[in-house]
Amino acid sequence: MLAPDADKKKGTGPAGLPLQVHQIQDGLATSRLGNKIHYFSAVDSTNSCARQLAERGAEEGEIVIAESQNHGRGRLGRPWVSPPYLNLYFSVVLRPNLPPIDAPQITLMAAVALADTVASFIPVAPVIKWPNDILVRGRKLAGVLTESSGDSVRMEFVILGIGVNLNYPRSLMPEAIRQRATSIVELTQKNISREAFVRRLIQDLDRCYGELEEGGFDPLATRWEARFGFRGKKVRVEMTDRVLIGRAKGIDRDGALILEDEMGECQRVVAGDVIPLED
Ligand code: BTN
Repeated sequence: MLAPDADKKKGTGPAGLPLQVHQIQDGLATSRLGNKIHYFSAVDSTNSCARQLAERGAEEGEIVIAESQNHGRGRLGRPWVSPPYLNLYFSVVLRPNLPPIDAPQITLMAAVALADTVASFIPVAPVIKWPNDILVRGRKLAGVLTESSGDSVRMEFVILGIGVNLNYPRSLMPEAIRQRATSIVELTQKNISREAFVRRLIQDLDRCYGELEEGGFDPLATRWEARFGFRGKKVRVEMTDRVLIGRAKGIDRDGALILEDEMGECQRVVAGDVIPLED
């Protein structure tokens, strides 16, 4: 793991300059998340970095933020494009008191929190694509990658990784994502304060995580479904071993996607890629 950067106090605010960690923490109103922020200019992946910290005993709520990632990871083994000083690459160590079977609840909780944060920065409502992509006008703005460690009875820790395109103009996006991705600056025509975004995200995650622990998954599942943009829509779901086409109905108690197939049968999907077939 890299040593934390000495340059964290340099520069101020706008896009292209280093994040000011003290500005993120000033006035941060949380009960568990964000007391400690490990800041780096470049890492392989903030999730890998947070995992190393967790293995060495990092406490719940410790956060890793990097200005860039050399091997940022997305779901299903995909790369996550991570250029410096424009976006957010964020991972938090959680030590939830939940059985491993409930791990998907953490991922869906994070999508709700992230959608709430995004909604407070843009003029249009973001939608969730199962399980946890945040889309705006059909393009991907943010994603969540959760990785857990433990045995079949108990989760030792969960690394909740979040990537958000913030002050990232389309002109700088590589060809591979240009037609599918969007960013806050593209949606608002203004660079935002990355510190304000991160502070709000930490607070929303802290609040939703607390709600999950206190009130269980059902209220969060209801909020997830309210933001789900594909209910009743025809989708194609690509899994490792098969492809399903059907209408998305919503999620079940375990966070699985429920799909009504072409025979009218309901199918549960626990992992896969959802591709919309209609608007
Ligand atoms: C996805 O939608 O495929 C998930 C993307 C998750 C990307 C973030 S960026 C911070 C953290 N570190 C990683 O390597 N991945 C996650």
